Amino acid sequence: MIDYGKLAGQKICNLVPYKPGKPVKELERELGISNSVKLASNENPLGCSPKALQAINDFLPEISRYPFGDAYYLREVVAKHYDVSGEKLLFGTGSNEIIELAIRTFLSDDEHVLSPAPSFSVYGIIAQAAGKSCKWVPVQKNFKFDFDALAGAIEDKTRMVFLSNPNNPTGEYFTQAELENFMAKVPEDVIVIMDEAYVEYIDAEDFADSLPLLKKYKNIFIMRTFSKAYGLASARVGYVIACEEAIDMINRVRQPFNTNMFAQVAAKAAMEDQEHLSTVIKMNKDGKEYLYSEFEKLGLEYVPTQANFILVKVGNGEKVFNDLLKEGVIVRYLGPGLAEWIRVSVGITKENETFIEKLKVVLNK
Ligand SMILES: Cc1ncc(COP(=O)(O)O)c(C=O)c1O
Repeated sequence: MIDYGKLAGQKICNLVPYKPGKPVKELERELGISNSVKLASNENPLGCSPKALQAINDFLPEISRYPFGDAYYLREVVAKHYDVSGEKLLFGTGSNEIIELAIRTFLSDDEHVLSPAPSFSVYGIIAQAAGKSCKWVPVQKNFKFDFDALAGAIEDKTRMVFLSNPNNPTGEYFTQAELENFMAKVPEDVIVIMDEAYVEYIDAEDFADSLPLLKKYKNIFIMRTFSKAYGLASARVGYVIACEEAIDMINRVRQPFNTNMFAQVAAKAAMEDQEHLSTVIKMNKDGKEYLYSEFEKLGLEYVPTQANFILVKVGNGEKVFNDLLKEGVIVRYLGPGLAEWIRVSVGITKENETFIEKLKVVLNK
């Protein structure tokens, strides 16, 4: 009999698959309920720009054709938006694919990546799936990154550092001064990937502005996505901005048609509709302020966020997560490292109100 575990090897056997938030329909089927609320995957509850939907619709008859391998028109719009050369851009099937491409392109077998912990678990999963590893460096007690420890953890075999800013799952952020100090300590052959999946939501004035650093550092990559504020999670489109030489190398590894055409036309239309984006950001700001004030009334500690989710301390995180599920509210429990917390995505007003109402029920408040 074939032993597939043996064929895959120990590193694959040890992998724990990423557990996405339950889709609403699945929960409703399981519990026989309706009107449930999903605040688990940091999606945009308002949806994407209507212009993006129209663009997908208009493109449907072209489904029999292969997509533009170089994402030509989307590249033009993103390059203009950031005032960077199109040659500094590369698109992927979500920023998850960018993480994978960067690791596959630049890490040799005995090298590893580094990330603060807690952070986006996918860095470790992808590194391990590619036969490499991820070293995690704990954040400080207040959830701020420990940049001294991170710089100290860089060894000869460290090839890449992932910095999620704002950080998922805490919503915490770091400043320009912190980033510049850190970059000054990073050897030039260690790539620093700024994972800015939630950057459109930020409002802190001292939030690190990574784009100007592209001119100074060839080892900085800026990774962003259309999955969050632009509301195109299902289209799967993310991108990286880096120096031309790095992009050229990743491009050799990238599959020729990795970003599908519906994703390309939708993302282009979404970026061109900055008015819709402003509405989304305003809704998120109002939603997070409502949630902050409700948490304060309930006497619950929370981490002020720069993103579209909030980490809130509820006691037994796993129990509250499960009890909320039974009430038809899906949030995120983040495991033993954050045992007392849950992470809740900011929803539309009605969803936020339902979450608070059900949270009071499960906490008996
Ligand atoms: C910090 C962070 N980076 C990257 C991603 C991946 O996003 P996508 O692959 O949808 O672009 C996510 C998704 O939740 C995230 O939270």
